Amino acid sequence: MTGQLTLEGHLQRYSETGPRALAVAAAIDAIATAAIEIAGLTATGQFADASGLTTGRNSDGDLQRDLDVRADAVIRRCLGRLPVAALASEEMREPEIGDREATICVAIDPLDGSSNIDINMTVGTIFSILPAPDDLSLAFHQRGTTQLAAGFVTYGPQTALVLTVGDGVDVFVLDRSAACFRLARCRVQIPETADEFAINASNRRHWDPPVRAFIDECLAGLDGPANRDFNMRWIGSLVAEAYRILTRGGVFLYPSDARPGYGDGRLRLTYEAHPIAFIMEQAGGAASTGRERILDLAAYSLHQRVPLVMGSRHEVRRVEELHCDPTLVASVSAPLFARRGFFRV
Ligand code: F6P
Ligand code: MN
Repeated sequence: MTGQLTLEGHLQRYSETGPRALAVAAAIDAIATAAIEIAGLTATGQFADASGLTTGRNSDGDLQRDLDVRADAVIRRCLGRLPVAALASEEMREPEIGDREATICVAIDPLDGSSNIDINMTVGTIFSILPAPDDLSLAFHQRGTTQLAAGFVTYGPQTALVLTVGDGVDVFVLDRSAACFRLARCRVQIPETADEFAINASNRRHWDPPVRAFIDECLAGLDGPANRDFNMRWIGSLVAEAYRILTRGGVFLYPSDARPGYGDGRLRLTYEAHPIAFIMEQAGGAASTGRERILDLAAYSLHQRVPLVMGSRHEVRRVEELHCDPTLVASVSAPLFARRGFFRV
């Protein structure tokens, strides 16, 4: 692995493309430094006073673990040395205004999937880097298409950093002995068609008909309109699901549903859906609410939620088709059950 290009080398090349690229590269480098520290904390767990135990709730009402708070502090310390105009985090109620002369803003989810910490499963850090607008109160109300860079880190058996600066997606893996990230996969491409889906199926009774119809098609497999069998996974960490999709394709859904508080799904637009959607599209995949492209949306509030369907293009388009055409939902369900013969005598 020693011969592989380091993240530092990669960022050095990119930073030569312009003055703003220099600021973006410095922020990515700081997040990578923070990620090495957070990887250490997640690996050491209770022996570093990072047990994953619940300490309260964040401003958005999510359970907050001690590691969420530690990860947030580490990232803010690392970014604090740089010129950043505004910083937003899942763990902060409001964005923080920093250096008004700076050219970039950063939004982070310091520790995604934190309900997985205490069970030793993959968690991660997500980041989105945006241009600083003249009016900084609009920093986190920009469309996803304005992102300059985005990425995420997974703290699993490997610590991997997935990055786009708008020119494809590269994956860097932490070389622990040298304390640096090295290029492991270059220009990642998501297969156009998937045969693996991910959804929290315990919410089935709360889903809208198009989501039910799509999952019914997946479950019907060879006997249904999809005409092929599907496998299912649910990890409970958005970063881990995204990494799997970047590795072998697939489709992930966290739709809106009828539970109180889930009218816009569960995931947050600014620091979860936007950066992950940028990665998906840059790797040839897609990301949608089921009706609209995620990157076309602009948040009206910092912790705004959004339904997210992402992954292989063919499956994301199918979910969109089902959302746009109610007659299709009806026509899919009827012959499906007839062919499977569930209700036949
Ligand atoms: O950040 C929210 C999150 O932890 C995601 O990482 C994950 O996809 C989702 O919540 C899990 O939701 P649920 O608790 O419904 O399985
Ligand atoms: Mn999260």
